[in-house]
Amino acid sequence: MTHRASACGKIILLGEHAVVYGFPAIAVPVRELRAWADFAESRSPFRIEAPAIGLDAPLEDLPAEHPLAFCVRRSLEILHTTLPAGCLTVTSEIPVASGLGSGAAVSTAIVRVLASAAGQTLPPEEVSRIVFEVERIYHGTPSGVDNTVIAHERPIYFRRGLEPQILAVGAAIHFLIADSGVRSETRHAVGGVRERRQADPARYEGLFKFIGDLAEQGREYLESGDPEMLGRTMFECHGMLDAIGVTTPGLDRLVAAARGAGALGAKMSGAGLGGNVIALVDPQRFASVESALRDSAAVAVYRMALEPSHPPLGGTEPLPAA
Ligand code: MEV
Repeated sequence: MTHRASACGKIILLGEHAVVYGFPAIAVPVRELRAWADFAESRSPFRIEAPAIGLDAPLEDLPAEHPLAFCVRRSLEILHTTLPAGCLTVTSEIPVASGLGSGAAVSTAIVRVLASAAGQTLPPEEVSRIVFEVERIYHGTPSGVDNTVIAHERPIYFRRGLEPQILAVGAAIHFLIADSGVRSETRHAVGGVRERRQADPARYEGLFKFIGDLAEQGREYLESGDPEMLGRTMFECHGMLDAIGVTTPGLDRLVAAARGAGALGAKMSGAGLGGNVIALVDPQRFASVESALRDSAAVAVYRMALEPSHPPLGGTEPLPAA
């Protein structure tokens, strides 16, 4: 028997980095880009294949701190089930180390497929908790925003230590995601911010507060369906991310190109120092903004849409379909 599960990518709309220090962030799923986990039962001992990273190994050969192996072992513990025999294959269309949540998406797909193989369904909160533990192996001190938005696959307002809130989307909002082609490790960017903050805590507290306030404002514009004002907060947020030292000339060029071609807002998204720029764009301007982004060295441009939606009543959500 075979099982299949998937998980979406994500972008941080507003609030990255400041969210690590307890300020709010807004994150939204990118359903258009997904990671997949397939589990084929067989008689052979459990093995993991991840062709994109050249991994093809029996689970028992992988060390405890290997993120994929950890994810499998921890999921089985939570599911109170033993290791099934068979092959787990992991694939993903989400570019790695580019701020789109590829690691968290892969982990989420693995947790879901193992739950399915065990004949169980885990609620998004439980999936998110397991993936958070894997994120700590990848990043050291994650805020938890990536695993939360990916497990829920809904726009969220996230603040460390508080229950995440599923957000309404008041009107359809369209984005272009421009991949700068520069890979960047979250651990590295977050570590640099931590060092600079230690050297000048008062300045960084002020900048983080500003970023958090933009996330609060952005939440209102997202919920009321005001793309123009939401776009403005994105431009402002990019300036703040520049001030904390996580943008690059390449990312700045992409933001300027989007702005020049008529985007309503644009900013780097995620950890920065590479990765992606997101642009809020009226679909009528998709072609001109996309070509400006490509002319400014974007190696790929993805389209995504957030459709109008409301948080589920009663709080419990169905898991996204594989
Ligand atoms: C990474 O997607 C977002 C950061 O704020 C790190 C984190 O929240 O863990 C840079």
